[in-house]
Amino acid sequence: TESKSVLFTIFGATGDLAKRKLYPSLFRLYKKGELAENFAVIGTARRPWTDDFYRDVVLTSIKDLMKSKSEADNFISHFYYQSHDVGDVAHYVTLKNLGEKLREKYSTQGNQVFFLAMAPQFFGTITEHLKSENILTGEGFERIVIEKPFGTSYDTAKELNDSLTKSFTEEQIFRIDHYLGKEMIQSVSAVRFANPIFESLWNNRHIDNVQITFAESIGVEDRGGYYDTSGALKDMIQNHVLQVLSLIAMEKPEKFDETHIVQEKVKALKAIRKYTADEAQANFIRAQYAAGTFDEENYISYRDEDSVSTTSRTETFAAGKFLIDNERWAGVPFYVRSGKRMTEKGTRINIIFKKDVDNLFAENDETPEQNVLTIYIQPTEGFSLSVNGKAAGQGFHLDPMRLSFRHDSEFLGNSPEAYEKLFLDVLNGDGTNFSHWEEAARAWELIDVIRKTWGSDTSSELPTYKARTMGPQEAFDLLEKDGRTWNWQPDLWYIDHG
Ligand code: BG6
Repeated sequence: TESKSVLFTIFGATGDLAKRKLYPSLFRLYKKGELAENFAVIGTARRPWTDDFYRDVVLTSIKDLMKSKSEADNFISHFYYQSHDVGDVAHYVTLKNLGEKLREKYSTQGNQVFFLAMAPQFFGTITEHLKSENILTGEGFERIVIEKPFGTSYDTAKELNDSLTKSFTEEQIFRIDHYLGKEMIQSVSAVRFANPIFESLWNNRHIDNVQITFAESIGVEDRGGYYDTSGALKDMIQNHVLQVLSLIAMEKPEKFDETHIVQEKVKALKAIRKYTADEAQANFIRAQYAAGTFDEENYISYRDEDSVSTTSRTETFAAGKFLIDNERWAGVPFYVRSGKRMTEKGTRINIIFKKDVDNLFAENDETPEQNVLTIYIQPTEGFSLSVNGKAAGQGFHLDPMRLSFRHDSEFLGNSPEAYEKLFLDVLNGDGTNFSHWEEAARAWELIDVIRKTWGSDTSSELPTYKARTMGPQEAFDLLEKDGRTWNWQPDLWYIDHG
């Protein structure tokens, strides 16, 4: 590969996100030769660090990936630190001067990527100054990468977007949804559009319902402060879950490229029924984890977690049903659920096919099970398809069997690798696996109704579920009233990667 010429500026360079995700990803790209000599990184944050101190921090964050000291030393020699108060104009002048010096030194050809690895309330100020202080020159490519949360409602998201687009165009903005970097999410399009056997079945004539589960076994860990202002609906459903849903539901794009894929995803999102308050109340449920015991371990309740209000009404679990009003999906519910402190970590998509309408085996008292295509997103990455076969042995009995494939563990597309893939996309200017404004906007419109309905319902106690279970009874009732159940088979291949 030809290595890239680029100057990175990281706002929030001393933070956790930069250390956990950014530096390791950049180092991986460096090891692969995507970054070689012609790149430089300016790290900026409030703390008054020196270049040397900063380089040590970067070194610590990549030490697990390091093969040789000289390789790592060369990598960190490209890093520079500039302390910075995002509201102070003078500092942008300093940044500009440093940038110009590094551009010269490393021949970065005017290409620039800005990472905003900090709280979104500063995004507007930063991007406005990048423009007004002429750090944006238009000479090379200029791109900006931002993390979630992208707003907390349609209005706040719109406000944020309006402030960004004063300095950057939509094509220059890369909104990270790290699930879109995961191997198996990217595989959804392959399964759908490279397999005529599925493509022909991918509609309401053959599919009974779709189930999307994002289960986490962890609690809120040390993120109580953030999480308590968010909750499962905004933290997961608005972004990751709806992104996945749109990939499953979209029509076949005219071409497999960013423009056409995004167009179809947006169309799918727009076809999702926007509920009235009453419908939102009937079709979505929430709950909070209570204390629980699992495998002889005791878990505390959400309200007892650090930095969480003892009277918190933030949901740690949300489940619901989306309906899509178009020809392909009319009548097919998309059930979604996401929660913390569930039994196991498991992100899966289940496509549940229709029952056999004319069961040949009815008189033999045999009922075939519904065929299910499961896409395992993580921790296991693979597929399975359940089919009915004859049980081996005497007589004739049906037995469900699973055809399955899983990727080897080294394929694991979890967070670090997912980020690395996404950053390379940024360098290549490919926004396919990022969230676009129209997607985020529509997702917020759908979520706002639910959010507001829940917000105004302060009368009843929030339902709870015991820590390390699959959620509250309400989540099971949701499907039961439609005559269905959640399909959740044991993960046959689960490997604990520690
Ligand atoms: C993040 C959420 O976007 O995704 C977290 O803010 C969640 O609350 C995380 O834990 C899950 O990501 P992953 O890659 O660990 O499944």
